[in-house]
Amino acid sequence: MGTRLSGTAALVTGASSGIGAATARSLAAEGAAVALVARRRERLEELAAGIRADGGAALAVVADITDRQQAADAVARVAAELGRLDTVVNNAGLMHVGPAAGASPDDWDAMVEINVRGLLHVTHAALPHLVRAAADSPRRVADLVNISSTAGRVARPATAVYNLTKFGVNGFSEALRQEVREQGVRVGVVEPGTVATELSSHLRDGVREAIERQVEGLELLRPEDVADAVAYMVTRDRRVAVNEMLVRASDQSW
Ligand SMILES: NC(=O)c1ccc[n+]([C@@H]2O[C@H](COP(=O)([O-])OP(=O)(O)OC[C@H]3O[C@@H](n4cnc5c(N)ncnc54)[C@H](OP(=O)(O)O)[C@@H]3O)[C@@H](O)[C@H]2O)c1
Repeated sequence: MGTRLSGTAALVTGASSGIGAATARSLAAEGAAVALVARRRERLEELAAGIRADGGAALAVVADITDRQQAADAVARVAAELGRLDTVVNNAGLMHVGPAAGASPDDWDAMVEINVRGLLHVTHAALPHLVRAAADSPRRVADLVNISSTAGRVARPATAVYNLTKFGVNGFSEALRQEVREQGVRVGVVEPGTVATELSSHLRDGVREAIERQVEGLELLRPEDVADAVAYMVTRDRRVAVNEMLVRASDQSW
């Protein structure tokens, strides 16, 4: 167990699988008490038990963060039960792909709901806690990390609405960074390339196979590779702000 985040509390959204679960494990391994937020209770309880078995501290919090009240309640519960909130990782997200013409508007709405509105709900509720944590912690710094994507920097056909959400996350993050830096809150974005997670399992048959063909032969990133990037960002001394990390699979051309 590391100690760089000892005495701090972290909240990770979308902690029930993939990048979020790996990030929660890595922050716990640095000594943070970690709140695990997502909808699937069993997955969260299982991860929390694993973190505790490794000597860490974890709290499972079931919430659908597309609902503003549930997101606010989740943040309030975490701050109350863990006593503070120093690190927030907005990771929960969804990707549907396919040409815009003829796409399902429900798929578009679902991406906006979680990738944009869910992130905003959690950020809004968490900011006062982060400002307080930066003021009173021995580290004198707090962190908000938003998980964007290469799709937040590079637009491509068949991902127009996913691009819209992730470009939006990058713009929001940079504006917020400038607002809260004087209060000791660092804002960063991590932009992963293609990672082996459950993300593509949400795609419809046909589309999923098309994506799988696109990445065939690539050695994909692992969730732990992205978790390493997040852990690097949030364990820097307060004089260092790593605001953006683009982490591609070495084989990835786009
Ligand atoms: N995989 C990639 O190639 C890749 C590349 C670049 C960026 N990303 C980004 O990385 C992030 C994590 O994705 P992943 O690849 O780890 O996918 P994943 O395994 O599908 O994880 C998505 C997480 O989001 C949670 N979530 C979805 N809707 C939610 C809601 N309404 N409320 C609360 N939690 C919700 C899911 O939990 P529940 O279903 O239990 O709620 C799950 O834990 C996303 O923002 C994604 O855009 C992924």
